[in-house]
Amino acid sequence: MQKIIILDFGSQTTQLIGRRVRELDTFCEILPYNKFPKDDADVIGVILSGSPFSVYDEASFHIALGDIIGRYPVLGICYGAQLMSHELGGRVEPAGSREYGRAHLERVDVADPLLQGIGDGSQVWMSHGDTITALPEGFRRIASTDRVELAAYTSEKTLAEGGGVWGVQFHPEVFHSEQGTQLLRNFVVGICGSRQEWSAASFVETTVAELRDQLGNDRVILGLSGGVDSSVAAVLLHRAIGDRLTCIFVDHGMLRKNEFADVMRDYEGLGLHVVGVDASERFFKALEGVEEPERKRKIIGAGFIDVFEEEARKVEDARWLAQGTIYPDRIESLNITGKVIKSHHNVGGLPERMNLKLCEPLRWLFKDEVRRVGRQLNMPAHLIDRHPFPGPGLAVRILGDITREKVRILQDADDIFIRGLREYRCDDGRALYDHVWQAGVILLPVKSVGVMGDERTYERAVALRAVTSTDAMTADWAHLPYDFMARVSNDIINHVRGVNRVCYDISSKPPATIEWE
Ligand code: XMP
Repeated sequence: MQKIIILDFGSQTTQLIGRRVRELDTFCEILPYNKFPKDDADVIGVILSGSPFSVYDEASFHIALGDIIGRYPVLGICYGAQLMSHELGGRVEPAGSREYGRAHLERVDVADPLLQGIGDGSQVWMSHGDTITALPEGFRRIASTDRVELAAYTSEKTLAEGGGVWGVQFHPEVFHSEQGTQLLRNFVVGICGSRQEWSAASFVETTVAELRDQLGNDRVILGLSGGVDSSVAAVLLHRAIGDRLTCIFVDHGMLRKNEFADVMRDYEGLGLHVVGVDASERFFKALEGVEEPERKRKIIGAGFIDVFEEEARKVEDARWLAQGTIYPDRIESLNITGKVIKSHHNVGGLPERMNLKLCEPLRWLFKDEVRRVGRQLNMPAHLIDRHPFPGPGLAVRILGDITREKVRILQDADDIFIRGLREYRCDDGRALYDHVWQAGVILLPVKSVGVMGDERTYERAVALRAVTSTDAMTADWAHLPYDFMARVSNDIINHVRGVNRVCYDISSKPPATIEWE
């Protein structure tokens, strides 16, 4: 399959470039700047990302441009553009001040293939400390802004003549660059010649065939969490190997109200063979008196693996462990020293202990692509469009120690909030739930005074948390309608025994996080 390679120089928006390219129905891989795959015949073009560095920083990342220029069309974005200009004989200098925010293109060379359909006045997003002040010989300017003369450039030589290079000082991948998608389409489709063959349908077809090939007649086990990724992975595998897939769904007691039963029913409706394990008793015991968030996480993580392993061992001659790992979990991200940080999301050493091979059918997908694949597989919308939910569940939403009674209170309050979000219709006809990235209720370790009828009460407070986000890396608190919040607050206080006060969390991430623990 044709692919675009995105070389990552450490910018925060590199993943966004990848998502934009995928939205153009084109496969792409994000690789560390120094890991260009020289012998990959599927590569049709290369994008160089931005970077937190200046090309003059000692620690900045440099590459052998000769490996790519003249062999593939190349687009440099921000640092990528500066790097090429700098290394090929142009000049890059510190801008008077860091330029950050909106700018508008002018003197656009509309005849250039990169800028087809993009007019003067088009808004772009700038974020740079250096600026290109002179282009290498044989290069020319194709757009400016009022503050940046060389906002976009190209080589005069074509690819066949050893050129085929474009650079843009702005960030076409971010939402604020109005015609950014058009620019990327011009590069990916127009210049690189993508056939746009990457789609949910083609993914399902080729992945099912690959899985059949890879797994043969082997048995596979998979841990279901109720979340989108593991559910889509399960349905995909089921399509490939049917009942040779055994799914295990562990109830650690910290799930949402009725979630275990509801999700089991959904899974069975999908034809999956699921072993449901109610292990809540042992988790409550292990968590008794534990207040520290990271210890809670460790206890739940370790307990989950123990229960999972016990069940997995009952599946005779299983050879594979399948996981819903998705692409952002695997991208080798760079830290500031250029070292590659790689996090493995294995189920705690289980594959080694049980001598299982790993199967990760969603390993190339971004989250929105997982959802598209789920729709392609005809999965019910409420399973596909579910908000993310943390593995340790309500345990990290009960501040302080955990008891069954606290979980009951939180489940009841959370159920009112989430059902309310699903039922409330916005002006666009969609449920409020679908406008929110993630929502939940936090049980606070404080009691406060209230009145109920003629009685003075002294009960718990809860906080509602709802955020908008695209990737959970940053998040804004959701501006929920007041009438909705009033109703939810009333319902919680009137119906949830033990709660007499409801607050709304209006903190963004950063500096706050989405969860409270
Ligand atoms: P924070 O609170 O770090 O959360 O802003 C970002 C996203 O990660 C989820 N989260 C977790 N998911 N295990 C998980 O599987 C965890 O321990 C965990 N902690 C946070 C959180 O719900 C949000 O979607």
